[in-house]
Amino acid sequence: NNRIAIAIDGPAAAGKSTVAKIVAQKLTYIYIDTGAMYRALTLKATNESVALDDETSLARLLNNTTIELKQSDEGQRVLLDGEDVTLSIRSQLVTNNVSYVAKHPEIRQEMVARQQALANKRGVVMDGRDIGTHVLPDAEVKIFLIASVEERAKRRHEENILKGFSSDLEELKKEIEQRDLIDSKRDVAPLIKAEDAIEIDTTSLSIDEVAQKILSEVYQKM
Ligand code: C5P
Repeated sequence: NNRIAIAIDGPAAAGKSTVAKIVAQKLTYIYIDTGAMYRALTLKATNESVALDDETSLARLLNNTTIELKQSDEGQRVLLDGEDVTLSIRSQLVTNNVSYVAKHPEIRQEMVARQQALANKRGVVMDGRDIGTHVLPDAEVKIFLIASVEERAKRRHEENILKGFSSDLEELKKEIEQRDLIDSKRDVAPLIKAEDAIEIDTTSLSIDEVAQKILSEVYQKM
């Protein structure tokens, strides 16, 4: 059977990475979390006090940065210049700043090139904001996942509590709305559904139901 490329886009906390991982596992495809790459650069920029509105300096920083996505038994690890930053890229500081880094055209150009190189073989599930529109415009299956902001905040909140992190539902709602706004309004490759993407509203669906819907689209293309 045919190995294909699957693009999963959508707003923040819509469950993209959760279902992308399940779909990849089912198909024994590789999973690529493109948001982790923008997060890793954001972490490095804040550590090195590079201003987030300084596109030239950020682009120079990125050119001197390696970001690796490693599949391991415990899931995907993110290595920034060889150092494991899997947990630290999920910090509140990085989450609140990443959209300012991701809006710069020079940064996006380099990230898209790296992502395309990673996906150069078929048999890939990639999630992000511009995968169906820019990174893999010829992906055989394109999914656009949405859910109400209340539901997305609630899911993230429950996830945080399970992990033992402190969490404030109203704060989460604001953070998610703010990030979606910046991601949707930027000039280059904004968050938007590709014309040929299938939209799935996950508000009242379980994780398994969403994964099943995506897999049934995939089996039609294989
Ligand atoms: O997917 P995740 O929430 O980790 O993405 C973090 C941020 O990275 C997004 O809010 C967005 O600003 C940026 N991003 C992007 N394009 C992608 C993936 C993520 O601009 N393909």
